[in-house]
Amino acid sequence: MTGKTYFVTTYGCQMNEHDSERLSGMLEADGYTKATAPAEADVVVFNTCCIREKADTRLYGNLGHLKSVKDARPGMKIVVGGCLAQKDRSLIQTKAPYVDVVLGTHNLASLPRLLRESDTGPSFEILEQTEVFPSALPARRSSPWHAWVSISIGCNNSCTFCIVPAVRGEEVSRRTGDIVAEVQSLVADGVVEVTLLGQNVNSYGRDLDGTPMFSKLLFALDSVEGLERVRFTSPHPKDFRADTVEAMANCRSVCEHIHLPVQAGSDRVLKRMKRAYTRARYMEKLAMVRAAIPDVAVTTDIIVGFPGETEDDFAETLSLVEEARYDAAYTFQYSSRPMTEAADLPDHLPKEVVQERYERLTELQDRISFESNIANVGRTHEVLVEGPSKKDPGKLTGRTRTNKLVHFGSDGADAGTLRTVRITAAHPHHLEGEGHASRLTLPLAAEAQGCGSCS
Ligand code: 5AD
Ligand code: SF4
Repeated sequence: MTGKTYFVTTYGCQMNEHDSERLSGMLEADGYTKATAPAEADVVVFNTCCIREKADTRLYGNLGHLKSVKDARPGMKIVVGGCLAQKDRSLIQTKAPYVDVVLGTHNLASLPRLLRESDTGPSFEILEQTEVFPSALPARRSSPWHAWVSISIGCNNSCTFCIVPAVRGEEVSRRTGDIVAEVQSLVADGVVEVTLLGQNVNSYGRDLDGTPMFSKLLFALDSVEGLERVRFTSPHPKDFRADTVEAMANCRSVCEHIHLPVQAGSDRVLKRMKRAYTRARYMEKLAMVRAAIPDVAVTTDIIVGFPGETEDDFAETLSLVEEARYDAAYTFQYSSRPMTEAADLPDHLPKEVVQERYERLTELQDRISFESNIANVGRTHEVLVEGPSKKDPGKLTGRTRTNKLVHFGSDGADAGTLRTVRITAAHPHHLEGEGHASRLTLPLAAEAQGCGSCS
């Protein structure tokens, strides 16, 4: 036992959340315990993201903050890992020479060794290929009932805006048997919901058997006894095929929710993004999943202000959003990234133009999200309880299979258990409900209430 403490700060996506659980798991296996704040920890790890420029700026700001803490506590160690470390390599040493350990996306497993080596001076290691599949490492899960499960890492696509292939490398799939075995042991440990992670889950297995095997994986996981819910993120629309829809429709555990990133509504922009589908083809895929799975929830990612995006192109994004009627959308302002093709395209847009379009888009999507939530009022949903609501500790919070957040009154239920909840009110970003379904006899009117606390 080291008797020492650690703190991990995570930036970015679910993939990073998962990696952070692994980093924490390895530190705990080495005898570290979790500190309550970075300033109190002996080892502070920043697990970084570089997908948009803001993430870069935030890291260097936070490192600057921690420097004064470290000056007062010389034994403290600072670790920078993840995508930005992979991208910036020696730049971190130049910009923040007080950092003790730098490790990239391919060598998470080296953290304990690099920390030991840093006793005698800075210890930096960036590799070009993954050594150990992250899910093979110990984890300190942040939830007892939910787990991230990595099914593939890296990406073989070449979307022109995206830095991920440069920092995460080529796609490598994990063997189905290893995934199923991990899920079985998670379920034995009390997990009831897993989220499968991959940059492009639909091409899972192509590097193993020469053919995509994602739908087979869903069927294999569906037979794991005790596993209530399977989610996955994200499929690439070009690879999203009928066999996956069929698996979604036929596997009891696979949730009625699909995250299908569209990125833009104009064919001209989609082409410049090298997304390999047209708007019409995308809408066909959406129609296919909606036909097979009644009430499926659909979410998406959209980028505003891609280089050369005209007002007409943007109008096509707005009209696609109207037509697709997403339950929710993650909207991003285009951010120019090094090592991407789009960075070298002409006609980057002024910040104000992008901001103005972004506001129009979020306003539209908020209205549609609200309407989609209103349509749930009066319905009954299975909710997986997450614990007391932060808004109102007298209530519980959980998510429907369609991934909608519900705050509901109940006579008490443990986190990780399933409840039947009747939806009584809708807000733009969450629902309200009542957990005593059997006590409700009168159908509730579909009423819309604004709580003032959601944007
Ligand atoms: N600028 C803005 N958004 C981006 N994304 C990826 N790269 C960029 C970029 N350079 C968004 C995409 C992707 C999501 C994870 O992040 O919408 O689907
Ligand atoms: Fe990036 Fe495109 Fe790969 Fe997604 S599919 S990680 S957007 S390159």
